[in-house]
Amino acid sequence: MCGIIGYTGSEDVKEILLDALELLEYRGYDSAGIALSDRAGVRMFKCAGRVSDLRNVCRRETSGTETVPGEPARSDGSAERRVQCGIGHTRWATHGGVSDANAHPHQVGKVTLVHNGIIENYRELIEDYDLGGSLVSDTDTEVVAALLNRFYEGNPQEAIRKTVSRLRGTFALVVMFEDHCGAIYTTRNVSPVVATLCEQGAMLASDLTALCRFTGRYFVVPEYHILELREDAVRLTDFDGNETEPEYFTVNWELNSAGKNGYPFYMEKEIMEQPQAIADTMEERVRGGLPDFSADGVPDTLFTDCERICVIACGTARHAGLVAQALVKSILHMHIEVEMASEFMYSDPVIDEKTLVLAVSQSGETIDTLEAVKYARRRGAKCLSIINVRGSSIARESDYVLYTNAGPEIAVASTKAYTTQLVIFYLIVARMALLRGVFTTEETQSYIRELQRTPDTIKEVLGKRRDIHVVAGKLLAAKDLFMVGRGLDYSILLEGSLKLKEVSYIHSEAYASGELKHGPIALITQDTPVVAAVTQEKLMSKELSNIREVRSRGADVVIFIKESIAGNLAEEYELITLPDMRDEFMVMPASAALQLLAYYVSSDKGFDVDKPRNLAKVVTVE
Ligand code: F6R
Repeated sequence: MCGIIGYTGSEDVKEILLDALELLEYRGYDSAGIALSDRAGVRMFKCAGRVSDLRNVCRRETSGTETVPGEPARSDGSAERRVQCGIGHTRWATHGGVSDANAHPHQVGKVTLVHNGIIENYRELIEDYDLGGSLVSDTDTEVVAALLNRFYEGNPQEAIRKTVSRLRGTFALVVMFEDHCGAIYTTRNVSPVVATLCEQGAMLASDLTALCRFTGRYFVVPEYHILELREDAVRLTDFDGNETEPEYFTVNWELNSAGKNGYPFYMEKEIMEQPQAIADTMEERVRGGLPDFSADGVPDTLFTDCERICVIACGTARHAGLVAQALVKSILHMHIEVEMASEFMYSDPVIDEKTLVLAVSQSGETIDTLEAVKYARRRGAKCLSIINVRGSSIARESDYVLYTNAGPEIAVASTKAYTTQLVIFYLIVARMALLRGVFTTEETQSYIRELQRTPDTIKEVLGKRRDIHVVAGKLLAAKDLFMVGRGLDYSILLEGSLKLKEVSYIHSEAYASGELKHGPIALITQDTPVVAAVTQEKLMSKELSNIREVRSRGADVVIFIKESIAGNLAEEYELITLPDMRDEFMVMPASAALQLLAYYVSSDKGFDVDKPRNLAKVVTVE
């Protein structure tokens, strides 16, 4: 959580920082700030609110200023003040409310600092070093700035080492020292920092989104190292002062794919990108009509040697795991558990060397998932991760990685990452079925052929967006809503319901429809609309009985139904028909339809769809 950026180079520092913060804003958006440095000093601009508010603050506070630190060279001779160095931050509040004073950067003495993470022992530090007197905010971050300033005697590395040795918690710190103009320093524990040296200078950020406008090459700053950025050089040292070479990776994302491409919101753009993202995720992983992970370096023994599977993930990624659970049970007849990463370590999990752990994460940075992976590996399990962001922390902590080639997902609500995670699960299940003799070669090929239809069936659903928009219009006034279905339909709706509640703020609950009469049906009235999914032929008649039960209690019902089984239900119910696939693949078209439903409810209510309140895209606090 929180987005951080640092830049030193020949371009307009202020603009680079502000543009980068806009791209990073999905990591947190309750306040924002930048600090610009030149030989005359460091100047901060910060405020509660969005990056657009920060732009206004910068405009207001720099108008009429003769020499603004960080601005490009002027023809009037003020070029000697041009230093081209700055850091920035967009915040998701943890310690201290949302206010101008709590916004980053924080400045104490010669130190200016931004931080992503949580310093658990900040109170002790205040007491132990008697720092209270100099603090003007309620944040843990300012305490770090004060401690750094206390230890600083002209040697940045020394001060950083001393400070970090006293910190407990997670942190990515980005620091400028007033008398080391032109240099930016960073160090981290758990919270991510990526960096690069490119034509425009040296830059670092909490994720690639901010860098990929400039370059396709980047490296991940290793934990407990210090990176020094200068306009034309980067220097990476460990805490003993030994220099190490950064290990560069190449970004697989098109440089311009992080823009909105004419859509009003990223969420809509990302929903519409799914056919391509799914095709990209399958490419290279289907050979001769069979699933194949050899290009990913994933050995077959991983799938043949395990006795049980454990999926670890949070939120939407966990919902992808629930679909996988249904597939693994029905096709492979294997024991599988799907764990909430945040509960995993406290639930005495049964994990050993015979367990295949599948960790699922779009960002690859969710701290609960990361810690769960480390724990499972300590217990001897092998971990295969399904990740979207290359080189992310979970990817690095795993034995093997299968990347979803979804491209940057910027909207906080996950859409294309979810469906591409599902694609990877379908491929894994097919590969395991083939290797373990559950499927013949022909059966596997037939299964994969069906999977390969998904880009087209999703396109068909996207073509029905107007009908879905009309249905969305009928839900705008709802305060509470239920989503009901059985089996895989219930899994689909858990995700559909999460999507709706996070972007529309309607209280929505997904319920296994057979469970309704054990309690929640008490809440059904004419003011409680019900969204049902009916995509599984063998469950249809039972699902329809449950739908009738809520209908007879006054609820308006809309059904997302597989086309071939819809019969004449349209006479009784509002229907959205979904293109036919084999039952186990109906998750794909149904998910796209439910994503559109959530999107339209939110946009019609006039919300900022991409940045729902209180949320952030990357969850790096426990
Ligand atoms: C909801 C959503 C979240 C994430 C969850 C895990 O739309 O996006 O529930 O799925 O925070 O994030 P990752 O996948 O990055 O580990």
